[in-house]
Amino acid sequence: MDNTYYITTPIYYVNDVPHIGHAYTTIACDAAARFMRAEGKEVYFLTGTDEHGQKVEKAAAERGEKPIDLADRVVARFSSLWDKLNISNDRFVRTTEPDHRKAVEAIFRRVKENGDVYLGEYEDWYCTPCETFWTEMQLMDGNCPDCGRATDKLGEPSYFFRMSKYGDRLLKHIEDNPEFIQPVSRRNEIISFVREGLRDLSISRTTFSWGIPVPDDPDHVIYVWFDALTNYLTGVGYPEETENYKKFWPADVHVVGKDILRFHTVYWPTFLMSAGLPLPRKIFAHGWWTVEGRKMSKSLGNVVDPGEMAEEYGVDAIRYFVLREVPFGLDGDFSRESLVHRVNSDLANDIGNLVSRVLAMVGKYRDAVVPTVSGYGEEEVDVELRQALEKALADVRSSMSEPAFHKALIAVWGFISVVNKYVDSTGPWALAKDPDESERLDTVLYNMCEALRAIGLLVFPFMPATGDEIWDRLGLERKAESGRMSELESWGGLAGGLKTRRGEALFPRIELS
Ligand code: MSP
Repeated sequence: MDNTYYITTPIYYVNDVPHIGHAYTTIACDAAARFMRAEGKEVYFLTGTDEHGQKVEKAAAERGEKPIDLADRVVARFSSLWDKLNISNDRFVRTTEPDHRKAVEAIFRRVKENGDVYLGEYEDWYCTPCETFWTEMQLMDGNCPDCGRATDKLGEPSYFFRMSKYGDRLLKHIEDNPEFIQPVSRRNEIISFVREGLRDLSISRTTFSWGIPVPDDPDHVIYVWFDALTNYLTGVGYPEETENYKKFWPADVHVVGKDILRFHTVYWPTFLMSAGLPLPRKIFAHGWWTVEGRKMSKSLGNVVDPGEMAEEYGVDAIRYFVLREVPFGLDGDFSRESLVHRVNSDLANDIGNLVSRVLAMVGKYRDAVVPTVSGYGEEEVDVELRQALEKALADVRSSMSEPAFHKALIAVWGFISVVNKYVDSTGPWALAKDPDESERLDTVLYNMCEALRAIGLLVFPFMPATGDEIWDRLGLERKAESGRMSELESWGGLAGGLKTRRGEALFPRIELS
């Protein structure tokens, strides 16, 4: 079995500051990466920034600064946000880095040597005041969609990629590999698009200079998508045959928003086919977030800053909310009301109360020490508890292979609810009153602690700080780290004799102001 797992986020444009949409993709990839590490896989998790192109060049010029200075500033905002959100990426790739340039040049050369690049004329609608080309589709009543002024049909010399040559091969690949594009609705969309036939693609521009020059023709810069998509190769060392390259390419999954699916499932695979490189195994498109029912936009002033949200509600609350609220692949709506509701019901009530009740009872009845037991109980409730964990683990595993984060979390919360019921039905407070029930009390308290250990591990990929905290309170020295998921395959991995700690509420209830 292949024991490696390579997962990527899109690389984010630096002409925007990070918002909840960017955080969503990154948190999702982080949860998948952490889960696969817990499964014992050797994981490589890549994210980064897309720094070239006309928009960045223009934005920098308007501020009177160099594009690289603008990029440096915005990149720092992305990387500090990822630190704050506990993102465990193995590398952060910037398209302005020299090794990325090398990778782009190398793949460009290979595609060219293969006869798939030719010089032609790129024709589109040009807005002179904005210095921007627009496609027919982008125009608003024939005018520039940015400033509303008239546009002219203009041409510029451009290198083209013979994408048309790869249509049939791509279609066959998509049809032969049902997993390649997920979810299925998106796959069908792409199949219809490819069936229409592919046109050759313009892959260079001469009207701006902020980009990677075309090898041997520096009047041209390489089209941003050709540049950006190559980051997935740069990240593992291409064009060198490094250890990482050999180990991790092709990627297991590129997670992207639905708006950029076509670039990833049509452009990218055809570039790779032309360069003679293996294709990624899966491209998963998630949906878009609106905010309180409206599209997020600077002009509406409703852009959600994930850093601010994390400060207000806690990092794990945000991570949990975005992954649980919306089936992965569908659109969702962000509102404080739904966030607060989720935090209070799923986090403060279900998991928070459980942890605090169990540890309080271990404190009260057993001096905060996990009892040592010779068996785990054979009453119906005991058996059901163990079976519930088996089911949760199986469901989490199958959900994460899609990945369907919401389903995985529903499965974990299914187990949490069984554990809560176990506490209610075994009634340790009653057992504690009867000295003859001392052994039974040991057993049920042990089972509850063992259940908490499992919960700590199961929530860890989604809420790493919470998972670690639960383990810490159980007196477990080692953190919920790589390769440990399999420990949940049999009941009773928790050692007796550990000193536990009740601690503060994991998730205090929030009042909606
Ligand atoms: N730079 C390109 C990607 C190149 S990848 C080789 C790009 N960048 S982006 O910054 O505009 O978007 C990055 C990701 O954020 C995309 O997957 C996009 O779908 C996602 N989101 C941006 N706004 C979003 C929402 N409102 N909701 C959910 N995700 C959204 O595209």
